[in-house]
Amino acid sequence: MNTILVGAQWGDEGKGKIIDLLAAESDYIVRYQGGANAGHTVRFEKKEFILHLIPSGILHRGKRCVIGNGVVVDPEALFQEIANLHRSGIRVDGRLFISEQAHLIMPYHKLIDRLQEESAHHGKIGTTKRGIGPCYADKMARLGIRMVDLIDGELFKERLAQVLSEKNRILNKIFDHPGLPFEEVYAKYAEYADRIKPFVTDTTFLLAQALKKKKRILFEGAQGTLLDVDHGTYPFVTSSNATAGGALTGSGVGPSQVRDILGVVKAYTTRVGEGPFPTEFGPDLMELVRNKGEEFGATTGRPRRCGWFDAVVVRHSVRVNGLNRIAVMKLDVLDVLPSIRIATAYKWGRQTLKTFPSNLRVLRECVPVYEEHPGWLCDTQGVKRYRDLPRKAQRYLARLSKLLDTPISIVSVGSHRDQTIFVR
Ligand code: GDP
Ligand code: IMO
Ligand code: MG
Repeated sequence: MNTILVGAQWGDEGKGKIIDLLAAESDYIVRYQGGANAGHTVRFEKKEFILHLIPSGILHRGKRCVIGNGVVVDPEALFQEIANLHRSGIRVDGRLFISEQAHLIMPYHKLIDRLQEESAHHGKIGTTKRGIGPCYADKMARLGIRMVDLIDGELFKERLAQVLSEKNRILNKIFDHPGLPFEEVYAKYAEYADRIKPFVTDTTFLLAQALKKKKRILFEGAQGTLLDVDHGTYPFVTSSNATAGGALTGSGVGPSQVRDILGVVKAYTTRVGEGPFPTEFGPDLMELVRNKGEEFGATTGRPRRCGWFDAVVVRHSVRVNGLNRIAVMKLDVLDVLPSIRIATAYKWGRQTLKTFPSNLRVLRECVPVYEEHPGWLCDTQGVKRYRDLPRKAQRYLARLSKLLDTPISIVSVGSHRDQTIFVR
């Protein structure tokens, strides 16, 4: 069975942990969008790994990992990550494949990302400053540089000369910033080209061959549905399709190949960066849940904003991804709360909204309609079976499943592999 795993909130739901678990039964793990803006944490045997660009399946020896055509690759971040893995004894050679069609993050993408964020004219998004938005913008504007161009050498030189002169004009005239010297950028990337070449291939062909042999593919979504450029809280989104559709366009695998679409949610909600968040906590709960849940960004270290579970948000995710099952993460973080809320709808003036509004003004003005559930006030981190969860926790989960009209197939009660309950 092939599975697409997506974040069903604003990212950081715990995708890395579930990918790592499901990777054990998969042959290929494929990243299909985003780039080094992602931070996927995997913990086992007292070790912690944070993967940004390389699929989280890499920690399982022998599994093949693919960086698909929909991903934007920063070679600097890639080599740093490979070096980190090597230090822990994990080799990537022969089992990491990078699409020749994947676009490259260039130094001007990172620079422009930062300058745009600092500029008073350009509304602040709170990006990770990894150059993601500017790189995808170039891809769509047909100004991008792909892996296949980089490793050709000649083509890269031509393309860089053409694009860099335009970028330098933008840097000078719009941002009042010195341009980047061609020779410097060229030399750096020419060196990357030699090192990256052994990994670069036609990954659509590789995956098609794998499917013919009935190999199992696990698609690893990054970010989350509400950060999707089409289905999220635009413009406070990332610049790619994090939703299930992106897994197909971002890997070159057809829709007939996948039927299982797993959404990952936290038992509450978090978000990093700017943008609307209807169920966001006030200061006291914010501090409590942030500390208990260790809610600090895996990529930028920024404190995450925290709030109640929002069923309006996740129902939206169920719909736009076609989720057939859900993993509920970090249930243990709620262990300390005497009372737990779930938003079931929004009030906007006299109207009750049951579907997630696209209009940002409506979203800012609406007030969540909450239902209140009693907390279980005991430690769930050691629980191994669903039936051993406190009754009140079971009722909370059953209520989430009902509100989402989707079965829960995994419940996570801690960051380690063995703190996971598979629900029959
Ligand atoms: P991702 O981006 O979706 O992969 O999620 P992140 O790795 O950015 O953030 C999830 C964080 O929660 C990581 O620090 C995980 O180790 C941690 N985590 C995952 N599942 C659980 C859980 O069930 N309980 C607790 N307490 N922590 C968890
Ligand atoms: P994972 O895969 C949470 C957020 C940023 C910002 C917005 C745009 O770990 O869940 P970008 O740098 O992508 O242009 O920033 O998206 N963002 C994430 N938030 N988890 C992520 O990835 C994120 N990747 C980007 O904080 O609000
Ligand atoms: Mg993350």
